[in-house]
Amino acid sequence: MTAFGKLVRTTAFRLTLVYLFLFAMFAASLLAYFAWNTRRLITEEITQTVNAETSEINELYGRRGLRALVLAIESRALRPGANLYLVTTPTGQAIAGNVGSLAPGVMATRGWSETAYRRIEDADDRDHRALVRVTELENGFRLLIGRDLAERRRLFGIVAKAAQWSILIVVVLGLGGGVFVARRVLRRIDAMSGTAHRIMTGDLSERLPVGRSGDELDRLAENLNAMLERIEALMAGLKEVTDNIAHDLKTPLTRLRNRAEEALAKSGCEADYRAALERTIEESDGLIRTFNALLMIARAESGQARGNMDDFDAADVARGIHELYEPLAEDDGMTLRVKAAPATLHGNRELIGQALANLVENAIKYGKPSPVVQPMDPTAAARVREILIEARREGDTVLLSVTDHGPGIPESDRKHAVERFVRLEASRTLPGSGLGLSLASAVATLHGGELRLADSHPGLTATLAIPAIAASGDRLAAQTQDVPQKVA
Ligand SMILES: Nc1ncnc2c1ncn2[C@@H]1O[C@H](COP(=O)(O)OP(=O)(O)OP(=O)(O)O)[C@@H](O)[C@H]1O
Ligand SMILES: [Mg+2]
Repeated sequence: MTAFGKLVRTTAFRLTLVYLFLFAMFAASLLAYFAWNTRRLITEEITQTVNAETSEINELYGRRGLRALVLAIESRALRPGANLYLVTTPTGQAIAGNVGSLAPGVMATRGWSETAYRRIEDADDRDHRALVRVTELENGFRLLIGRDLAERRRLFGIVAKAAQWSILIVVVLGLGGGVFVARRVLRRIDAMSGTAHRIMTGDLSERLPVGRSGDELDRLAENLNAMLERIEALMAGLKEVTDNIAHDLKTPLTRLRNRAEEALAKSGCEADYRAALERTIEESDGLIRTFNALLMIARAESGQARGNMDDFDAADVARGIHELYEPLAEDDGMTLRVKAAPATLHGNRELIGQALANLVENAIKYGKPSPVVQPMDPTAAARVREILIEARREGDTVLLSVTDHGPGIPESDRKHAVERFVRLEASRTLPGSGLGLSLASAVATLHGGELRLADSHPGLTATLAIPAIAASGDRLAAQTQDVPQKVA
């Protein structure tokens, strides 16, 4: 498209054309109204003077007769810029006045008419136009008094010229302004398109230019830049996940493959094959678990799970998880307890349950007391092997926490431990893929809350702190915080 074509297609230019048309129409109608009113005023003035003079002359004729009338007409006709006068006999013969010729039939019709005429003294043979009034005097004499319309025509001419000029000026200024504005807008849009193009070719760090005027284009650019910021962050996250997956799933997959190959190469008995296959299944289950955890994290982080939210009691979730994990903890020599006060939450129950389960699994796995701080008396020994699941409400926040009395996580490692596939040095010997805390944190973020890791002297308290959403606020407010707590 040519530069001119682009310019003409801009909204700014099209709007200018619309305004131009509206302004031109406005100017034209204003001038037309002015012209029409002036014409009316001039006509009115002519009518008044002619009427006044007609009655004056009439009266003079009535009082002093034809001779006085003729004398008065002759003297008035001689004045500079005189009106038109004509007196005729009943047979139509002119006896006084300054009119040389008239359009035929004018003297025959009484009253007002517009006519072409010439004065006696006119040297040229051009017709003029006048507004005249014909009256009949006594004895059949007729009197015509009128006024030339040149003034009215001249005024009309002036107005017409003014209209021409003003419309021309409006059009020139309007088109100039339109081109100026459209070019400015076009330049900025072109700059934005250029940046967008560079972004499309892969440079996500590019940002749209933002001016200082704060107009709608600046606001649009700012919003698009914020969107790009978010997309860049998401892409970086995605890249990290992909890198992690490539790195962390490659090892178990390679191990799986090598074991299968080894079993085949050994050509052992059926029992060997069976054992190899069982290990393969075990390893595959681990892989499936990791994939499921990754998918769940992705679901929580993308906000996709937001559609699946409803109100439920966090205490029910805590009790459910307690029931599910109690035998497991017991097998591992740990005691699992629950302390749950009603606390309504608006969220995705399945994800919250999974997040809490991950924290409990961690407590069972890593929460065994370290041999160094082994207490002496049996009650204290039982206490450190205890894991407590708690559900309660504190102000506007619902807290779901799991406390153990193991070695805990040093403060400096807490941030790191939440990252995907991160496993701390101390727990490398235990099974796991380093995704449990990542999911718990992603779930908390999805609900507008956070995962807090704190020291429980000794041990770790991992807490899902989730705001009790205002949507169910009325009901939440009705709940008191001092509901007696049930300890299992
Ligand atoms: N209660 C805890 N006490 C001590 N260390 C913990 C505790 N919970 C987590 N950690 C440390 O944080 C790391 C990350 O935990 P996370 O739950 O994310 O992964 P994981 O338990 O190793 O694997 P997964 O949960 O995916 O099976 C763990 O490897 C462990 O080192
Ligand atoms: Mg874990």
